[in-house]
Amino acid sequence: MIVSALQFCPAFLDVDENLRTLSAWFESCNADLVVLPELCTTGYFFHDGDQLRSVAEPADGNSCTLFRDMAREYQCAVVAGFAERDGDACYNSAMTAFPDGSSHVYRKVHLFAEEKLHFTPGDGGFPVYAWGDRLRLGVMICYDWRFPEAARSLTLKGAQVIAHPSNLVAAPRHWKPVMRARSFENKVFTVTANRNGEELRGEERLVFHGCSQIIAPNGTTLEEVEEQYEGWLSADIDPARADEKAFSRWNDIMTDRRPDMYEH
Ligand code: ACM
Repeated sequence: MIVSALQFCPAFLDVDENLRTLSAWFESCNADLVVLPELCTTGYFFHDGDQLRSVAEPADGNSCTLFRDMAREYQCAVVAGFAERDGDACYNSAMTAFPDGSSHVYRKVHLFAEEKLHFTPGDGGFPVYAWGDRLRLGVMICYDWRFPEAARSLTLKGAQVIAHPSNLVAAPRHWKPVMRARSFENKVFTVTANRNGEELRGEERLVFHGCSQIIAPNGTTLEEVEEQYEGWLSADIDPARADEKAFSRWNDIMTDRRPDMYEH
């Protein structure tokens, strides 16, 4: 199975422009699973809740319609971050769309910094979606990386691949090894699609560091790109490798667990 992540710089508040950009990128994509960055149709650094609401869309809006169309047209699973509007609430969400037209939404559980001012935290937990018998796909968004419980919950629910749409502003020297550890400690593939570029708000400047990566269940890097790179990174994986949780005849990272010894 070919898994691909897209690294690019979304245009701030210009949903139509971003949808055109994404459609064009799909023409050169040849993947079974596609992971796009967090908030990839709106950008990130909102001035206030009104500005966010002006671009946030329901899960049947134009952005998610495009994700579903791309999944059908290119016969791939698509995981993509978008600003979701549901009534008065906005969520930092990721849609997962499958080629058969089915789709699901994950609402980011751990909100980062000023996201807490504008978004409502998700309370639906961490989802794993079965794509027939081809793949069990888990989703978490960006800052969820800081919480081992996120990737562990997805693993306990059977995820083989964790899609990780991101707008990471933390230094790659912090999150890259941590995501390798998330793969290693759970024996799962992780696919981090991180945007690059910068956004300004008056004197304030946010820099997004790209450096997207795809990691194997043994923690090795299958593919990674530089901060300024624009385009796809891809790896050919066998999701079943993530079902092998033993690393010796004595040890299996799932059956060796002692949940009764752990705090909750
Ligand atoms: C982040 O969660 N976007 C840093």
